[in-house]
Amino acid sequence: MLKFSAYNYSDEIQSQLKAKLLDILTKHSCQDLLIPVFTCVNELLMNAIKANYKNIYFENYHDETLPYDQGLKLFRFEISSERIDHLTDIAKKNHKTAVVSARIEKSVLHIDVENPYPMTKLEKENVESKLEFSEHIHSVSDIFDVSERDPYKEGAGLGIIFVAIMLKSMGVPHSKFIIKNDGSKTVSSFSVPLTEETVKFYNEYKER
Ligand SMILES: Nc1ncnc2c1ncn2[C@@H]1O[C@H](COP(=O)(O)OP(=O)(O)OP(=O)(O)O)[C@@H](O)[C@H]1O
Ligand SMILES: [Mg+2]
Repeated sequence: MLKFSAYNYSDEIQSQLKAKLLDILTKHSCQDLLIPVFTCVNELLMNAIKANYKNIYFENYHDETLPYDQGLKLFRFEISSERIDHLTDIAKKNHKTAVVSARIEKSVLHIDVENPYPMTKLEKENVESKLEFSEHIHSVSDIFDVSERDPYKEGAGLGIIFVAIMLKSMGVPHSKFIIKNDGSKTVSSFSVPLTEETVKFYNEYKER
């Protein structure tokens, strides 16, 4: 129903994505859910684009003798500097896109965000520990603790946790948020019922 692909991340891509999601939500009278749904898709899209860059970076420039955590430090610098343009160019040339697809089945919105590299063992462990942690969040300070302690984070290390919080705010069970390898790619998925109940749950949650 919706296919949206991106090599890089920009304000323009962000507003296009937001407009497309708003369109879908409005058709189901769920426009109130734009912020949480967009936040989820956006964080997963950023992870997918970043994973593409990271693979390109490690394939192309990484010195094999450098330990992973040091390579990761350089990568963090790379994506925060203007050299990110090189990574975008290579991604474009090699058709390494991140793809968001959205479909509706029986009033449930299913989102898949994929990128064409499977997660490494370490990334998988990373994802699993974030998913497990985010199931039991009680306070904001829990979130900052985990960010401080994460040695492998690529940003603040909070993206997956934010997605989990947004899903919780819409009453979506934690089991509906899945990040897995699928052959030669990584797929992050979640689903949200586009119903009056979800909107009501979210609006009440916000008031709490
Ligand atoms: N599509 C993906 N491919 C490979 N690894 C991934 C993917 N999505 C997430 N990860 C792994 O999960 C980790 C945690 O993701 P999360 O979004 O929570 O934090 P972050 O991206 O490191 O930082 P932030 O989102 O705050 O900028 C990432 O650092 C990365 O190792
Ligand atoms: Mg992230």
